[in-house]
Amino acid sequence: MKVMVTGGAGYIGSVLVRKLVTAGHAVRVVDCGFFGFDHLAPEAELIPESVLDFDPAWLEGIEAIVHLAGLSNDPMAAFSPSLNYIFNAAGVGIVAQAAREAGVHRFVFGSTCSIYGLNDAAEVDETFRVKPAFPYAISKHMGERLMGCLTDADFRPIVLRKGTVVGWSPRMRFDLITNAMVKTALTDGKIVVNNPDLWRPVIDVEDAAEAYIHALQADLSVTGTFNIATRNYTIGEVAAIVQSELREFGIDVDIEVHHRPDVRSYRVDVSRAARELGFVPSIGMIETTRTMIRHLRANPAMDLNDSRYYNVEHFKRLLAKGAFATNGSKFKTGLPHAVPAGV
Ligand SMILES: NC(=O)c1ccc[n+]([C@@H]2O[C@H](COP(=O)([O-])OP(=O)(O)OC[C@H]3O[C@@H](n4cnc5c(N)ncnc54)[C@H](O)[C@@H]3O)[C@@H](O)[C@H]2O)c1
Repeated sequence: MKVMVTGGAGYIGSVLVRKLVTAGHAVRVVDCGFFGFDHLAPEAELIPESVLDFDPAWLEGIEAIVHLAGLSNDPMAAFSPSLNYIFNAAGVGIVAQAAREAGVHRFVFGSTCSIYGLNDAAEVDETFRVKPAFPYAISKHMGERLMGCLTDADFRPIVLRKGTVVGWSPRMRFDLITNAMVKTALTDGKIVVNNPDLWRPVIDVEDAAEAYIHALQADLSVTGTFNIATRNYTIGEVAAIVQSELREFGIDVDIEVHHRPDVRSYRVDVSRAARELGFVPSIGMIETTRTMIRHLRANPAMDLNDSRYYNVEHFKRLLAKGAFATNGSKFKTGLPHAVPAGV
């Protein structure tokens, strides 16, 4: 298959692209390079551009698209709601429309379980009537609605509503639950838990990439929205697993517990993905944590405090360097084609 992956140089994208090229697929990445490209599988073809400048010629030969490009968490979206709506809602619309016009049948959109907000009384499935209240989740919901508008007999989107993705990636993030806990344990000697009772569906990044591959391989009769997670954990449960696994490596840390309120706590039902995509994740939190610790041990020179591993910090630096225009008239010229030198 010849697959386009937008945002393919990101945390999830760089794992997915590696898996796709290893499986023998041809991959074209469209990514404007917030975090650079040095971690991208060299076999992939790279278009270092923004999806907002999408050129239909980039679709030449493309059979399916995975759309991951955009701002990827609440803090980034809250910091710049306007860029959030532009990148996350307009961005997916621009790529999907071009794909549909070019006759690409399969379009897989990376959405999020964040859109469930505060709903942890029971596991929610994809039929739950979501009503997100914050920019990141609203923008993803807008993207999902767009998919619904464009779906027809020929254009067959699949929306993957992922839980929090964790684990080791060549484009590492330390601002995601488990990753952040391992990081602070190593740098500060403790695991900080802001609220142990909150629920989060979680999935390892390798499994998340597999979910995309299942969606790409699904029969075209399959379309619609799928919750994607290994299982639902409380934050306290994740902290206990991380603490216990660190102990196996001779690292003894305490868990510092706060009880800060949060706007997100949700549990999801993932049975539709198993039933219709045949997707069943295989990596549990223990393995995720062990793999991460092994990678960190093998990379002792890695600066865990580098802003590149913390999306909102890095995004603020890019904004301060004038990498983005917040003015609509500059969309075409104001976006970075690579991380500006010195960032
Ligand atoms: N990581 C998670 O826990 C998680 C959970 C649910 C959903 N998601 C979604 O999955 C997607 C990927 O997440 P991630 O963790 O890999 O994020 P990431 O921030 O590591 O990667 C995003 C990539 O998109 C690129 N990008 C951003 N705007 C672009 C644009 N306009 N044109 C081209 N490229 C652009 C960036 O350069 C970056 O390489 C995001 O859409 C995110 O919202 C992530």
